[in-house]
Amino acid sequence: DRKRREQLYEVNALATKFYNHILMNHPAGAQGLSYLLGRGLTKKTIAQFQLGFAPWGGRELVRFLRKREFSTDVIVEAGLGMLTSDGELVDRYRNRVMFPIGALQGRTIGFGGRALGSEEPKYLNTQETPIFRKRNVLYGYALARQAIRKTGQVVLLEGYMDVIALHQHGLANAVATLGTALTQEQASILRRVVLDDVILLYDSDSAGQKAALKSIEILREMEIPLRVASIPDAKDPDEAVRELGADRFKAECLEQTMSALQFQLLQLTHKHPNHLTSDRLDYLRDAVNILAEEDSSIEREAMLEWLSKTYSISVAALRDDLQTQLRTKS
Ligand code: CTP
Ligand code: MN
Ligand code: MN
Ligand code: MN
Ligand code: MN
Repeated sequence: DRKRREQLYEVNALATKFYNHILMNHPAGAQGLSYLLGRGLTKKTIAQFQLGFAPWGGRELVRFLRKREFSTDVIVEAGLGMLTSDGELVDRYRNRVMFPIGALQGRTIGFGGRALGSEEPKYLNTQETPIFRKRNVLYGYALARQAIRKTGQVVLLEGYMDVIALHQHGLANAVATLGTALTQEQASILRRVVLDDVILLYDSDSAGQKAALKSIEILREMEIPLRVASIPDAKDPDEAVRELGADRFKAECLEQTMSALQFQLLQLTHKHPNHLTSDRLDYLRDAVNILAEEDSSIEREAMLEWLSKTYSISVAALRDDLQTQLRTKS
């Protein structure tokens, strides 16, 4: 109910402050602070994203929250504490750098907590709660909204640090889906603010590329214009923008985009590693199937030309098969 939800908002707000205070002012947060500074973040950025640190002890946050009259129930439901087998309330997050996740207006509704080293999981995230529904969340949205309106574009990323790094480099129209493909709910949020197009920029690893393909399907279904950007070398946007700087990152990643269709055809080459030789016909058959899903005939024609050139086959033959596909579709 409404009162419960309000309590969940309040406990998340207080935890955000607590974790940030530990990070910035307390010896128990020193490791967290040097971790974030070591990853190139400024104190200003840390403040803007209200980053924090969950101390090692294991009871600090829950003690603090209990003193402020929050019930064990609310603390557990918010995903901030958990009950041991002895029924003792302990912190859920220990020794982790804390990334508050905001609702669309910016109020904290959950957290991602990053391990300092290679402990698993790398990120521990809030489970689903009455106020935290992962499929509705776009990380960074409240801070990005103005810039999205102003530029007409949104840069859609995978991770916490990707969003934060782009913001720090003046690219404030960036949000993230947090390691999964875009959902319909997230897409409809974007549709309301994006005037021009969505620029999809996922990690260049295979998980990222798979998620990109799924996100493309959702954006297509909802008729949201998109372009696909990519990162040279096996990096993610955070590493790339740090290495290249804002101007080169813009010129070499954000402005080197391809159409969704071109991206799909390139991804298809991974399914047919010998696409230039023995797998050429297999590849072309699958490619024509993908073309048949594209609504824009301009896009289809452009890619027919490209396939024809790249795979030395006549446009007429490709068009012929495409027409057959389109007929069986309709
Ligand atoms: N993710 C997660 N849990 C994990 C791994 C990833 O929730 N165990 C989500 C996080 O939102 C993460 C995103 O997926 O930001 C992308 O994953 P990945 O590329 O592996 O992490 P990075 O964001 O690059 O994290 P970092 O730079 O801190 O290593
Ligand atoms: Mn990745
Ligand atoms: Mn990263
Ligand atoms: Mn990454
Ligand atoms: Mn094959």
